[in-house]
Amino acid sequence: MLLTEIDHVAIAVRDLEAAIDYYRRAFGAEVAHREVVDSDGVEEALLKVAESYVQLLTPTRDDSPVATYLEKRGEGIHHVGYRVDDCAAALQAVKDAGGRPIDEAPRPGSRGTTVAFVHPKGSFGTLIELVEE
Ligand code: CO
Repeated sequence: MLLTEIDHVAIAVRDLEAAIDYYRRAFGAEVAHREVVDSDGVEEALLKVAESYVQLLTPTRDDSPVATYLEKRGEGIHHVGYRVDDCAAALQAVKDAGGRPIDEAPRPGSRGTTVAFVHPKGSFGTLIELVEE
């Protein structure tokens, strides 16, 4: 079994401050980490839930993939991040199983992680992120 934990569930939102405020009021959730990832055109806020996170995600520019997603699909669950011990090995296993990598090789993610995305087509409709801490 290559997956060791749900790392995060990412939720695309239009108003990051409003979403953070809602999670605080509704669940008492506090922001554990916040980061702008320029290369992906997103800002994220991580709310810790046990050993996993809820990741609230909003675009920082119009050509961000998350901006396109919000335009087409509206707010909601954007991807699931699975924690793995070895991102490169997990990505190879995806390829071997007939999955469709978006990233051909692991690359830097937020929080100093190493990540690779897998296309929802070929993964039963879910955008998957492999996350190595
Ligand atoms: Co993610």
